[in-house]
Amino acid sequence: MAVVPYKDQDDNKKSQVATMFNNIAGKYDFLNHFLSAGIDIIWRKKAVSLLAPQKPKLILDIATGTGDFAIELLKLNPDKIVGADISEGMLAVGREKLTKKGLNHKIELQYGDSENLPFADNTFDAVTAAFGVRNFENLSKGLSEMNRVLKPGGTIVVLEFSKPRSFPMKQLFQFYFKNILPLVGKIVSKDNAAYTYLPESVQAFPDGQDFLNIYQQVGFKNTKWHSLTFGISSIYIGTK
Ligand SMILES: C[S@@+](CC[C@H](N)C(=O)[O-])C[C@H]1O[C@@H](n2cnc3c(N)ncnc32)[C@H](O)[C@@H]1O
Repeated sequence: MAVVPYKDQDDNKKSQVATMFNNIAGKYDFLNHFLSAGIDIIWRKKAVSLLAPQKPKLILDIATGTGDFAIELLKLNPDKIVGADISEGMLAVGREKLTKKGLNHKIELQYGDSENLPFADNTFDAVTAAFGVRNFENLSKGLSEMNRVLKPGGTIVVLEFSKPRSFPMKQLFQFYFKNILPLVGKIVSKDNAAYTYLPESVQAFPDGQDFLNIYQQVGFKNTKWHSLTFGISSIYIGTK
């Protein structure tokens, strides 16, 4: 059974996830950096640096949210970045940020569902997603769509939480993730479920080689993964 944010509701995962991110959009950036002690910023930088050798000119950032990963991708000096997301609330915060930074000519944010992307086949040089794919209702469908819109030879980079496996990091991380993070997340975001859904969805999500197997099933080649910070997060790379 899919892990959903609001277990007492009948809506499907996609609509619950969109509602949840709409609810927390205003506090998302603060909580992200606060709860990870800023490490999420370093992880995004690392993921972007791994894409640098490809020199992508047109990039699609899926599950772009408030646009932090799209903004980091500007370091690669692309012609254009398109950010797509199913949460209008997150996109609104992102658009405000881009306007303040004067980046509207480089990054365009639009509504887009990864499982049914509004783009032609073979369009983008690179497709990325940071902390997004875990939230897809149908992971294989979402990754297949990312593959479809990528040009042959193009690169996919996914940054996602994974599960630390060695003592004592595994135990420390689990304690923090299951006890402290949901409490602080609930108090600050005022959403009862969002930061309980986070550890539950990470626990249920395939990581490491299991994730690469799904990459390969949907057609990606040259797949590899990089473990970050004791395995708390991982970066998954592949080519079309
Ligand atoms: C944890 S946020 C990540 C935002 C941003 N990438 C970052 O690094 O901070 C996850 C985002 O995934 C989006 N999302 C979930 N399912 C999606 C789907 N099927 N298609 C597009 N976006 C989706 C959510 O709306 C949310 O904004």
